[in-house]
Amino acid sequence: MVRAVNKRGTLWGKLRWGVGALRDWRLVPRLRAHQRELDATEDLGQVVRQVCLRRDRGRIYANQDPTEIGELCRRVAQRRPAVILEIGTARGGTLYLWSRLAQDGATILSIDKPGEDGSVRAPVLSVYRRFGQDRDVRVVLLPLDSHSEGAHAKVSRVLAGRKVDLLFIDGDHSYEGVRADFYDYLPYLAPDAIVAMHDIAVPASDPAIQVQRLWDEIRARGFKTEAVIAEPGSSPGIGIVSMDDAAQQRVPSP
Ligand SMILES: C[S@@+](CC[C@H](N)C(=O)[O-])C[C@H]1O[C@@H](n2cnc3c(N)ncnc32)[C@H](O)[C@@H]1O
Repeated sequence: MVRAVNKRGTLWGKLRWGVGALRDWRLVPRLRAHQRELDATEDLGQVVRQVCLRRDRGRIYANQDPTEIGELCRRVAQRRPAVILEIGTARGGTLYLWSRLAQDGATILSIDKPGEDGSVRAPVLSVYRRFGQDRDVRVVLLPLDSHSEGAHAKVSRVLAGRKVDLLFIDGDHSYEGVRADFYDYLPYLAPDAIVAMHDIAVPASDPAIQVQRLWDEIRARGFKTEAVIAEPGSSPGIGIVSMDDAAQQRVPSP
């Protein structure tokens, strides 16, 4: 009996996901039109505003404060990363920004756990895969749990020894989840990489968003950090960690 219920549950879940995917095909032309509009916009500040301010379906959308993500984009633009790893693809807004800021021919990996709040399905992913194509940017989408062995194996395979210049963490916001994303992906980073994480200023009293707890620990461990908080007390905040030669020594022992 239990087996039958479970099986039905799984089938039902798959059916809902499948029906959702069919509906998502209708979004594809609108998403492509929005991408064309963004591609035609040269001014980065305007691009940031365009992806942050309207969240209607059929648009590429970043769930970010425009001032904060704009500031991070300015840093990333100075660096022109060749390899970017993002955790938390969702509606493709930050992924689109990375595709604009990366070097020609760059590789961008973006991990998103299917079935989570915010994750998107194959038709929409087919749009994201073409971000930056005109500049030979390669977008590799990994529909996986970032904490899984499978995700690490895939990331290693795609990188094939290359190092990550920018790690953007915006997936699982629990303390254990964001902690694993930070420490477990450090070995993939270039010695002068930057790591940015979203929601460092959300009060730790919100049980679903515990990034601030990790952020306080990272600072206490002596990592080189900088907080970008547009409106203290109300905006979510982005934390930037600059790697250096001593970074690995600050990693706590397991
Ligand atoms: C806040 S959204 C990301 C927003 C996006 N970076 C932007 O602003 O454009 C968080 C995403 O992380 C994904 N996620 C949650 N837990 C995850 C995990 N363990 N591994 C990978 N992705 C996860 C969710 O599916 C969701 O799509």
